[in-house]
Formats: sequence, structure tokens, C-alpha cells
Amino acid sequence: MPSYVVTGSNRGIGLAFIRQLSEDPKNIVFALARDPDNSQELQELHKSRKNVHLLQGDITDVKALKAAATKVGSVTGGKLDYLVNNAALVDFNRQELSPDGYTEGQEELLEDDYLKSFKVNVIGVIHTTNTFLPLLLKTSETTVAKIISLSTGLADPELTVIGKLTDLSPYSVSKAALNMVVAKYAAAHKDNSNIVFLALSPGLVNTALKPPTPEELENIKKTIATFKKQYPDWSGVPLTADQSVGYMLDVIKKVTAADTGAFLSHWGNKQWL
Ligand SMILES: NC(=O)c1ccc[n+]([C@@H]2O[C@H](COP(=O)([O-])OP(=O)(O)OC[C@H]3O[C@@H](n4cnc5c(N)ncnc54)[C@H](OP(=O)(O)O)[C@@H]3O)[C@@H](O)[C@H]2O)c1
Repeated sequence: MPSYVVTGSNRGIGLAFIRQLSEDPKNIVFALARDPDNSQELQELHKSRKNVHLLQGDITDVKALKAAATKVGSVTGGKLDYLVNNAALVDFNRQELSPDGYTEGQEELLEDDYLKSFKVNVIGVIHTTNTFLPLLLKTSETTVAKIISLSTGLADPELTVIGKLTDLSPYSVSKAALNMVVAKYAAAHKDNSNIVFLALSPGLVNTALKPPTPEELENIKKTIATFKKQYPDWSGVPLTADQSVGYMLDVIKKVTAADTGAFLSHWGNKQWL
């Protein structure tokens, strides 16, 4: 029975992973969230599907992660097949500022913005991966284990320069660092052909909890227009979380040891939209 841990699973893409993976009763699905008790969708899935287990944990809290890993091990007999590092801080504060957009006197604000994104999107993912790694390595003794970390096309330096994408700098920079974290894990475990590390972008996905304000709508239109210039054939319509997860699960299924350390899109290549 394949086992999956998905972080940040109470909403958005993480919740769609839980919904789709738990449709197959053969899968054992662990939904890790900061506050699973307050997620109605997770609670309903937990009640209606025997294969959904809830775990509490902030990915920056090593103690909570360790308790979660112990719980997973006790259900699976000490193994884990897939870890999906989905949780992230997507910080829209000062979204339009490039690194040189902070004015004099805003140095502390700059540090705070970048460190906040790094703490969750880089260090949080490292803590999560390290905590669950013994379970994944146990799986790799007999079959393939995969660690998928959700990245973004905004972490692609080429697209950034060509598209003049200055927006969401702390987030994009932290995700670019995450891509290197994935490469480092891949390098460290390169001799183990039963373990695959992958940075995977989900495409542009509508995970908004409420309709955008007029100002947000303007920003979204601007972003879509920028992307359209790079991808003239793109429809301009964001994916739903379920569509994106469907595409990503195909990629996750297909990747092998030959792909370890790669940074791919939901199409399994470098086409980000
Ligand atoms: N949506 C897109 O278009 C898009 C594009 C490219 C990449 N991505 C990536 O895809 C992933 C999911 O995106 P999304 O749009 O679904 O994000 P989202 O709607 O902003 O949800 C983020 C999830 O991460 C959780 N989270 C945040 N900080 C956490 C922490 N410290 N510990 C544990 N959980 C934490 C949130 O939990 P709370 O509810 O408790 O805050 C929430 O469940 C992210 O890695 C994101 O960078 C998304």
C-alpha cells in the first residue's frame, strides 16, 4: 500500500493532493497541516475515508514534525513511499518590489521579508525532509521512494530575466534556493537508485480563498499579460488545484532515478505554463 505525506494539506494544492490520492483506497494518505482540526474539508475526508490520517505540524517546528513522523511510522511499519513538500509561505506583501526596490531605511524590512520566506520555503522543507528521510530510506531498501518539493516557474532565472519578472522576489528567491536544496539531496543520495528527489512546479493555479480585490485583480491581469508574452499559446486561464495535481501526479509517477535533482514543470519539462 503506497504511503504519502503531504504538507500544507488544509487548502489549495495540498488539499487537492489529499483528495485525489485518497480516492484510491490502496493508498495510505497522511495530511499534515498546521491546524487540521479547523479544516472542514480535511475533517470530512478523514471521517469519510479510512485511508486519510491527519497530522498536526508547522514545517518550521522540528518537534511537531518528529511526532508526525513517529505517527506515520507506526501506521506504515516504519516506511514512507512519497513525501510531498507542498507547504509554503506565498508572501504577497510588497509583491512588486525587486531587491533594489526597498528604499533607504527599509533594510530591516528587506531582511525580514527574505528571512520569513527562507525560514518556511527553504529551512522548513529541509527540516521536513530530514525528519521523514529515515522512513523514505527504509522504503528505498526494497522499492522506489520519492520526495517531491513544490517549486515555481518564478524560480527560473531565465524566465525571470526574459520576462522582466521582478514580482514576489523573496518568495521566488527562496524557491530558487529550494531547487538547489533538492539538487543537494539528490547529490547526497546519488548512489541510491531507489530514491528520487524532484523540484516540481504546479503551473499557475487558482488557490485564492476569496475573490480578488480590485487592486489584486489588476496585479493578476498584469501578471497574466506578462506570462502571455512568454507563452503566447497559453490560454491565460489559471488551472484549478485538481487539474494541476492531476498533471503533477503523472509526472511524479514517471520520474525515475535518472531525473533525481531535476526542476520540472507539471508538464514534466521546463514549460512553466
Ligand atoms: N498556486 C500557484 O499558482 C502556485 C504556483 C507555483 C508554485 N506554487 C507552490 O505550490 C504549493 C502550494 O501552493 P498553494 O497555492 O496551494 O498555496 P496556498 O494556497 O498559499 O497554501 C499554502 C499552504 O501551506 C501551508 N503553510 C504555510 N506555511 C506553513 C508552515 N510554516 N507550516 C506548515 N504549513 C504551512 C498553509 O497552511 P495555513 O492554512 O495554515 O496557512 C497552506 O496549507 C506551494 O509550495 C507554492 O509555492 C503554487
